[in-house]
Amino acid sequence: MIVLGIESSCDETAAAVVKDGYKLRSNVVLSSMDLQAAYGGVVPEIAARSHIEAIDTVIEQALDQASCTWDDIDAIAVTYGAGLGGSLLIGVLSARTLAITKNKPLYAINHVEGHAYANFITETTLPGYTLPGKQPEFPVLALIVSGGHSQLVLFRNHFDYTLLGQAQDDAIGEAFDKVAKILGLPYPGGPSVNKMAVGGDENAFAFPKAKLAGKYDFSFSGVKTAVLRTAQAQIGKDFTFPSKDIAARLSEAQKADIAASFQKTAIETVVDKAILAYEEFQPKTVLIAGGVAANPEVRRRLQARLSIPLTWTDPKLCTDNGAMIATLGCFMAMRNRPMADPYTLDIAPNLSM
Ligand code: KG4
Ligand code: ZN
Repeated sequence: MIVLGIESSCDETAAAVVKDGYKLRSNVVLSSMDLQAAYGGVVPEIAARSHIEAIDTVIEQALDQASCTWDDIDAIAVTYGAGLGGSLLIGVLSARTLAITKNKPLYAINHVEGHAYANFITETTLPGYTLPGKQPEFPVLALIVSGGHSQLVLFRNHFDYTLLGQAQDDAIGEAFDKVAKILGLPYPGGPSVNKMAVGGDENAFAFPKAKLAGKYDFSFSGVKTAVLRTAQAQIGKDFTFPSKDIAARLSEAQKADIAASFQKTAIETVVDKAILAYEEFQPKTVLIAGGVAANPEVRRRLQARLSIPLTWTDPKLCTDNGAMIATLGCFMAMRNRPMADPYTLDIAPNLSM
C-alpha cells in the first residue's frame, strides 16, 4: 500500500510517500515561514498564496524522491482539518483533482490525529532521520502538542480513541510563539525560547499553572499574561506599557530567566496531565507528537516521570509534514476505512478529534 500524503493546513506545503504505514519513501516540506517571520506569526493570506505557488512542485518532488510514478501510488491522503481555511482549501482541492484525474482512492485526514501517526514510521532510506525502533503498541497515550493544538488522547486501537483533554484557550506552541514575541525573539517561538532558556534560571519566576474543571484539559493564556506582566515589572513599567517595546529594555540575563521559567511552567503543565493519564490508563506506549515535541526539554521532563521509554520521532516528522498524513492514510486504506468523495470533500477548519 503506497500512499501519497498532502498537507497544507498552516504555513507548510508538504507532500510525502509512505509504504504500508511504516516505510518513509519521501518527505518534502516547503515552509513559507521566511515570508511570515517579518510579521512574527502566520498571516493566513500569505500562507494560502504560498501554497498555491508551491503545491504542484512539492507533490512532484515527493513522487521523484520516492522514485514513484502515478502508477505506483495506490491512494491519496489529504489533511481536511483542522487548520486555516484558505490553506486547507489548496491541499484539498489539489488532492481532489488528482484523485479524479489519476483515478485514485482519496482519504480525508484529521491533522491532529495525523501528528500521532508520525510515530508509526520506523524505516527509511532517506538520510538524516532518527526513527523509533518499533511501531507504538496499543493502548497508546498520545500527547499531541503543536502551534495550534494541545491534546491528550488515548488510542485503544487504530480508529478507536478517546480525547481525554485539550487546550481550552491557546495551544502550548502558540504560548511559546507569544512569549518569543514579548522577548523580541524570532518566529517560530518554540525553538527561539528553547535556545534563550539555556543558561537562564528556571526558578527565577514562579508562573501560574492553570487549574481547570476538566481533569485533562490545559490552559496557557494565564501563563502568557503572567510573562507579559513580569517582563513589564522587570523594566519598571506597569501593565499599560506596550508589549512591543519591552524586549529592547530587557537584559539578556532577564530574557534568559523569563524564557527558562516560562518553558518550565508550560512543559510541566502538559507533563503533569500526561502523567496523570499514564497512571490512570496504564498504556503500553506513551508518545509525544506535534511541533512542540521537537523541544528536547519537554521530552526529557516527560521521560523522567515515566517508567516506560517515551516514544518520539525525528523533529522533521514532529512539525507539520506530509509523511504523517500518508501514514494515517495507509492505515485507513489497509483497514478499509471509508473513502472521501473527490467530488464533494470539503474542508473542516474547526475539526476536533
Ligand atoms: O505541528 P506544528 O508544525 O504546526 C501546528 O500544527 O501547529 O507546530 C508548530 C509549533 C510552533 O508553535 C513552534 O513554535 C513549535 O511548534 N515548535 C517548538 C519547537 N519547534 C517547533 N516548540 C518548542 N520547542 C521547539 N524546539
Ligand atoms: Zn501540526
